[in-house]
Amino acid sequence: MNQVNQQENYTASARPRRLRTTAGLRRMVRETRLSPDQLIAPIFVRHGEGVREPIAALPGVFRFSVDNAVREAELCGAAGLPAVLIFGIPERKSQVGEENFADDGIVQQAVRAIRRAVPELVIMTDVCMCQYTESGHCGLIDEHDGYVLNDDTLEILQRVAVSHAAAGADIVAPSGMMDGMVRALRSALDMAGHERAAILSYAIKYASAMYGPFRDAAGSSLKSGDRRTHQMDPANVREALREAALDVAEGADMLMVKPALSYLDVIRQTRDRFPEMPLVAYNVSGEYSMVKAAAERGWIDERSAALEILTSIRRAGADMVISYWAREAVGWL
Ligand code: PBG
Ligand code: ZN
Repeated sequence: MNQVNQQENYTASARPRRLRTTAGLRRMVRETRLSPDQLIAPIFVRHGEGVREPIAALPGVFRFSVDNAVREAELCGAAGLPAVLIFGIPERKSQVGEENFADDGIVQQAVRAIRRAVPELVIMTDVCMCQYTESGHCGLIDEHDGYVLNDDTLEILQRVAVSHAAAGADIVAPSGMMDGMVRALRSALDMAGHERAAILSYAIKYASAMYGPFRDAAGSSLKSGDRRTHQMDPANVREALREAALDVAEGADMLMVKPALSYLDVIRQTRDRFPEMPLVAYNVSGEYSMVKAAAERGWIDERSAALEILTSIRRAGADMVISYWAREAVGWL
């Protein structure tokens, strides 16, 4: 063989391969994995018995009475999900929303029942006021100027978090974006003897149009005003990192970015800035319902769209994803 040929052969064999010609190869070199133990299912609980009420704006998601919520939690556990996130729909709304911190409130009942039926399942609870208040706001509102009364709201949220922990919640997830919320809850939980209860802070929560279907599901639509005075401006990311830093300093055990899909860059930056913190992303109601609606019309393939979305949220850096697809996605994986 002469010099020239040898050179050509070498060049040909050094051409990079595309490692994706077979399913096995693709699986082997996959950089981002999605598994059941990274998914968390929201569960909506309401009063009654034997209730399994479909939610128009969230096809495939239901409002359950406690008995059926237990059954749903059992299915989540059996599917390999590590945790569920409980949202309560109270009997009646009021100015303060007393049921929110009542011993026999709907969330407290559901937590006790699920704890008994599925002891190994991690129970997370949403801690906010908006399902419970007549105004639909996440806090008490100053009648004169319409602003949230931050510190008065914190006192109520402390009672809510303590009552959830007393019922057996492992993790409380305050979603109202009040200032000083994590510190207030941490000290209330510790003083009440719930040192082991963890706090998943909705540290970075944008004022998003993507919560629309949720507000239908939970009956938490605003009677007037908006949430822009306490939720974040979608245009900002430096502010998001500042919010996260404050919550870490106040004792948050995990951070959350919400919504997920329009904020993949925020997830990535949060992951890089806080490598020591477990990071959760909330794949919110609008992100789910958009795909559902298009799939119903045959315009998009739900399964592949959902798995692509969930994978992209993991790729952006979230350790865990809260998603209305959680249980179904396990079947797809
Ligand atoms: C309440 C709360 C909301 C969501 C979770 N907790 C609604 C809101 O802030 O308006 C939205 C979840 C979703 O859209 O799936 N604070
Ligand atoms: Zn709220």
